[in-house]
Amino acid sequence: MMTPQDEPSATRVAIGNNKGGAKKSTHTVRLAEALAKLGHRVGVVDADPQGNASRRLGWKDNPSNPPLTTSEAIEANAEGVASQVWQPIGWSAEYADRITLMPARYTLENRVSEAGQVGAYRRLAKALKGADRHLDYVLIDCQPSLGHLTQMALAAAHHAVGSTEPEHDSVEGAVRYRDFVATAADDLANPDLTFLGMIVGGYDMRVGGHVGQLNGLRQIFGEEGIWGVIPRRSLITNADEFAQSLSEISDSAEVRAAFENLAQRFVKEIPAR
Ligand SMILES: Nc1ncnc2c1ncn2[C@@H]1O[C@H](COP(=O)(O)OP(=O)(O)O)[C@@H](O)[C@H]1O
Ligand SMILES: [Mg+2]
Repeated sequence: MMTPQDEPSATRVAIGNNKGGAKKSTHTVRLAEALAKLGHRVGVVDADPQGNASRRLGWKDNPSNPPLTTSEAIEANAEGVASQVWQPIGWSAEYADRITLMPARYTLENRVSEAGQVGAYRRLAKALKGADRHLDYVLIDCQPSLGHLTQMALAAAHHAVGSTEPEHDSVEGAVRYRDFVATAADDLANPDLTFLGMIVGGYDMRVGGHVGQLNGLRQIFGEEGIWGVIPRRSLITNADEFAQSLSEISDSAEVRAAFENLAQRFVKEIPAR
């Protein structure tokens, strides 16, 4: 069987944590933004039925004429069908046209009951096959569970990257995600899948355990395994809240620099294929 490693495709990275609130969607969106600013063409696959990344990228659902989403891409069970699903994001920033989206809405939850069908875990890989060659990177925003939707993401990905807050339960969720990637890779017919690094977000040294948890993260994932530490800033919450690009927000230089440094590290660790 062809694995994602054998196919001409974008470099696909599944961003996860077995906990909600671990900044997965923020890091997916802002990393996509910073990569696009660097000139890369980025696909964002929303693999969470909450659809938070889709909304934050300014995507708008249209109940009277519903756009295709990750749910339909998976349901189709057809090679390359993702090429019909990619759609523009809603931001007006000049780099926004280098980001393309496979959006999600709550209906993605309906795909979970199909998990028992033969080969169901490969359906996202199938959908993307040949449909992301025009992109440099595809970032997959995973849901907090390690269940079927995340397994589909991992079966399609070349690499996994963790996202966490520097807080106890979130660090444990990151460790479960990393260990799951290691043990599930073979079972997902994706033996070369590798867990590579961590993005830490919402760091505030004034918050009780943050300093200690960040030290702990450096021990657990290694100094080299921590690719970026994004400070806690209400500006980030606001940008997500109002579905804005950072270019639209004044006084965002520090935050933009933090995500641009992260993107540079990301590109260094994961060169585009
Ligand atoms: N560095 C940060 N500083 C402040 N708020 C942040 C930061 N990063 C993310 N957030 C906010 O934290 C909340 C949870 O993040 P989110 O990306 O939704 O987590 P997840 O996708 O893992 O559930 C969101 O409201 C988001 O805007
Ligand atoms: Mg999320």
